[in-house]
Amino acid sequence: MSDWGIKFSLGAVAVVAGTLLTIAMVNGFERPPIQTAQGGFRGTGMDENYNPRTLAVEHAASVLPGVLPPLPASGPKASAAYKNVLVLGDLSVGQFTRLMASITTWVAPKQGCAYCHNTKNMADDGLYTKVVARRMIQMVQHINGDWKQHVAATGVTCYTCHRGNPVPSMIWFNEPGPEHGHGMAEAYFGKNQASGAVGDAALPYDPFTPYLEKATNIRVQSTAALPGTDSQDIKDTEATYGLMMNISQSLGVNCTYCHNSRDFSDWSQSTPQRVTAWYGIRMVRNLNNDYLNKLHDVFPANRLGPLGDAPKINCAPCHQGVFKPLFGQSQIAGFPELQGPLAPAATAQ
Ligand code: HEC
Ligand code: HEC
Ligand code: HEC
Ligand code: HEC
Repeated sequence: MSDWGIKFSLGAVAVVAGTLLTIAMVNGFERPPIQTAQGGFRGTGMDENYNPRTLAVEHAASVLPGVLPPLPASGPKASAAYKNVLVLGDLSVGQFTRLMASITTWVAPKQGCAYCHNTKNMADDGLYTKVVARRMIQMVQHINGDWKQHVAATGVTCYTCHRGNPVPSMIWFNEPGPEHGHGMAEAYFGKNQASGAVGDAALPYDPFTPYLEKATNIRVQSTAALPGTDSQDIKDTEATYGLMMNISQSLGVNCTYCHNSRDFSDWSQSTPQRVTAWYGIRMVRNLNNDYLNKLHDVFPANRLGPLGDAPKINCAPCHQGVFKPLFGQSQIAGFPELQGPLAPAATAQ
């Protein structure tokens, strides 16, 4: 090929490469405008970036269903009127029926009462969905009554997680990982596969089992320098970063929403939101172990994970990409029966 020919082909390659790079960049970066909100002291870089287009989509997805008008507590109790009421017995029949209608809107609006009930005999516990729902009612009472350090007075209803679907989106299972290869490829260590769970990074793809089911310490830094005292290894570091990527993604925030990045571990330089998050991690562990895992034998096989475990939650089912679920809108004021367990003496047990 002549000199000119070579120059021409190199030029053509450069043009093609340049075009591809531009396309990649346009797709990879967010189009302005970006709004910034300062979260920490000036100069610490503790700013949150928001894109009004993304916010508009999230606001549209956070419109709450209407609340039925409250009904009087007077009249016969559900425990007297019905045959098999184990949790909500202290409600009046009116209050009970209103809650059943609301639950249907929150969890199974298309399927209706029959999603949980044998409609020929409403007292029958034959459908697993009813047994799960009874435990879910207790779980919501527990969240709102005992985890105020996290959910404050805002609280949650079934809608916070379910959003009109029987199976909430963004649940997780213990992750068996991709099939192992041979030789060098065997050394996956549960990572090096781009994973949506950790912001498409090659970090460990299951940061949930150690931290949100088991109670492994979420630590990167050792607190002592001497040999033999260094308890944190590189695997802890990678898994911690994996979890943190997922937390940031689930809340739609940067790391600096909770941390001053000059010292991630120091609480005195962290924001109050980090404390709320600390309680959130403990709450999620508690719900996974004491509620979802305990329902293992109730769930049919098609609801279990690839390793046969029960479905579990992380921050995402409630938060869905927003710093406060549903932008902090609350509906529990209209449902005192969901704010904590009902008086045990009054329930028919
Ligand atoms: C998401 C599941 C779910 C849906 C949907 C649902 N229910 Fe229920 N229902 C339950 C649970 C759980 C109980 C038992 C509550 C308890 O033990 O305190 C129950 C109990 C009842 C009972 C008491 C039956 C008895 O004799 O023990 C009636 C009546 C009832 N529901 C009516 C309805 C109606 C009407 C609808 C539709 C508007 C409905 N339910 C939708 C879960 C559901
Ligand atoms: C913290 C999040 C959360 C809240 C709040 C919540 N749920 Fe659930 N729910 C789950 C998860 C996770 C599952 C498991 C998904 C599955 O069944 O595969 C589930 C499953 C269910 C199922 C079984 C659905 C199926 O088809 O397998 C029913 C019924 C249900 N929930 C009812 C309720 C009711 C009623 C409330 C409110 C009293 C409620 N849930 C509140 C997370 C939640
Ligand atoms: C919503 C708040 C929140 C966000 C956002 C967040 N973190 Fe964290 N981070 C925490 C909490 C809470 C802990 C402590 C967890 C514990 O001890 O249970 C923690 C712990 C850590 C640690 C361990 C510190 C130590 O003591 O060894 C590192 C490192 C860390 N985060 C990095 C990050 C990075 C990087 C990001 C962004 C990708 C991030 N975090 C986003 C709340 C957050
Ligand atoms: C059961 C639902 C639920 C789950 C699961 C959940 N949260 Fe929350 N979270 C809430 C509610 C409700 C609020 C709003 C409380 C309020 O109004 O102050 C909240 C508030 C927060 C806030 C405070 C935001 C602010 O700007 O003040 C942080 C931070 C947070 N959650 C982090 C987390 C993290 C991290 C996880 C997972 C480890 C998590 N949450 C899991 C329901 C949940």
